[in-house]
Amino acid sequence: MADAGDPLYMPSMFDFSPSPDADKSAIYADLIAAADAITRDESDAIANMANVAALIWQFLPDLNWAGFYRMVGDELVLGPFQGKAACIRIPLGRGVCGTAAASGKTQLVEDVHAFPGHIACDAASAAEIVIPVALNGQVVAVLDLDSPTTGRFDAADQAGLEALVKRIAPRVA
Ligand code: SME
Repeated sequence: MADAGDPLYMPSMFDFSPSPDADKSAIYADLIAAADAITRDESDAIANMANVAALIWQFLPDLNWAGFYRMVGDELVLGPFQGKAACIRIPLGRGVCGTAAASGKTQLVEDVHAFPGHIACDAASAAEIVIPVALNGQVVAVLDLDSPTTGRFDAADQAGLEALVKRIAPRVA
C-alpha cells in the first residue's frame, strides 16, 4: 500500500482543481497556493518547473503554451512546459523572452504581431506574457505564457503571475 515514504506517493492535497466561476484574483490565489504546496518540499528545480507549468495549464483558461526557459550561460534554453514543441535556444535580448530576461522586467504583449522581433514558436499565439524569474538580483529563468486570443493578458494576470514567480523563484533555480 502506498504511503508517504514511497517516492511515487501523491497525497490527495495534490489533487488541485480550479473553481470554475472564480474571478482572476481568486484563480491566482488558488494557483499560488497549489504551486506553493507542490514545490515547498522539493529541491529539484526541473521537477518544480514541470509541476508549476502543469498547474498554470490546469488553472488558467485560453492558453496555448505555458512554461519556462532557463538561463544557461548567456542564452535561454527551453525548460519544462505545456503546449506544442517550442524553440529551444533564445539569445538574450531576442524576442519577448529574451527581452524579459535582458531587462529583468515583465513583458506583457497584447498582440505578438506588433512586437518587433517576436519569435513565433506556435503560429496560433496572439498574446504573450513573460515574467523574469530572479534570484539574488540575477535572472535565472523566465516564465512564458502564450494565448491564441489577442489581449488575453492584463494587469491582473501580470500581478498574479509576478506573485507566483516570487513565491517559487528559490525552488526553480
Ligand atoms: N514567443 C517567444 C518564444 C517562445 S515561445 O512563445 C514558446 C519569444 O518571442 O520570445
